[in-house]
Amino acid sequence: MVLHLDLGERGYDITVERGALSRVGEIFSLGRRVLIVTDSGVPAVYAETVAAACKNAVIATVDEGEGSKSFRVFEGLCRLLLDEGFTRSDCVVAVGGGVVGDLAGFVAASYMRGIDFYNVPTTLLSQVDSSIGGKVAINLDSVKNIVGAFKQPRGVLIDPDVLLTLAPRQISAGLAEAVKMSLTSDADGFALFEDGDVTERLDEIIINALKIKKSVVEEDECEGGLRKVLNFGHTVGHGIESAAGLGGLLHGECVALGMLPMCSQSVRARLIPVLERFSLPTRIEADTDVILEAMGHDKKLDGKQITAVYVSEIGSFEFLKMPVAELQSRVREALEK
Ligand SMILES: NC(=O)c1ccc[n+]([C@@H]2O[C@H](COP(=O)([O-])OP(=O)(O)OC[C@H]3O[C@@H](n4cnc5c(N)ncnc54)[C@H](O)[C@@H]3O)[C@@H](O)[C@H]2O)c1
Repeated sequence: MVLHLDLGERGYDITVERGALSRVGEIFSLGRRVLIVTDSGVPAVYAETVAAACKNAVIATVDEGEGSKSFRVFEGLCRLLLDEGFTRSDCVVAVGGGVVGDLAGFVAASYMRGIDFYNVPTTLLSQVDSSIGGKVAINLDSVKNIVGAFKQPRGVLIDPDVLLTLAPRQISAGLAEAVKMSLTSDADGFALFEDGDVTERLDEIIINALKIKKSVVEEDECEGGLRKVLNFGHTVGHGIESAAGLGGLLHGECVALGMLPMCSQSVRARLIPVLERFSLPTRIEADTDVILEAMGHDKKLDGKQITAVYVSEIGSFEFLKMPVAELQSRVREALEK
């Protein structure tokens, strides 16, 4: 299936098809110099398959993990482009999860004020969410995604077969983002998570999530309003992710936790079994004060009030202005063990 994300001149196709990786040369325009960015945890064969389809490819393999979304790694990749003589008509291809996509996309957005960018997401999280929409960024110290850009890719290739090598815990983390989309926008899709065969219906889950995100981005590309719905679970989630001493939780796991304080009791009662079904966390040991302090660094925190996405009924949402004190008590009540 090919979905088109319609942003006029900046629009692009999202190809979702098992085995599509072997057709990457037909789907992307690779008859030029191509920097392929991947990481050490992504099976090398995926980047090599892309390289084989390019006229002239350089593969850069960064260390796996969030630490690669750094100025140091960003600079190294920009230097590589310069040393290899890349010009405006060349391009960057990300082959990896959200880390590689965010990093490589920011390099493509920055080098020579922007060169073409393509994305081949290889984690479920990046296939359902981060590979489309154009948000690219790196971190500064422990503050996530604080330096970045909007850089739409020229094309996205989603081959669910690459998920066969992905660890089950990473699959669950990706499911958390897909659950997030259904909770705010697709009640039928949420029901699938409650009792459907998720492994059998993974392609459908990916397509459902992409359709939701696509329509939101088409309406509000640069997050002036509606697109904030995609941050559901992220305000608290980023606090959890940034909080010192809470290392070891994956982004999707933090989003799973972050959704719980931001929905009604009745929604939470249906959400918890779904998260448990996917072995996602629903409570944390950590001191919630540490999380709340870390949220002070969250760029979505606005003075003494935050605007949070709140779900009182599955499949719908509202933007709620919430005093920080209320947020604190919600986080304590929903998450503390
Ligand atoms: N730009 C956006 O809109 C957006 C949205 C959501 C999340 N994000 C970002 O995405 C990042 C998280 O992405 P992620 O969950 O994909 O994590 P990730 O990129 O760190 O990938 C997870 C792990 O899986 C490995 N891996 C990747 N593909 C594999 C495969 N096919 N087989 C085996 N191993 C594989 C990687 O090496 C890594 O160790 C965070 O930095 C988050 O901020 C961005």
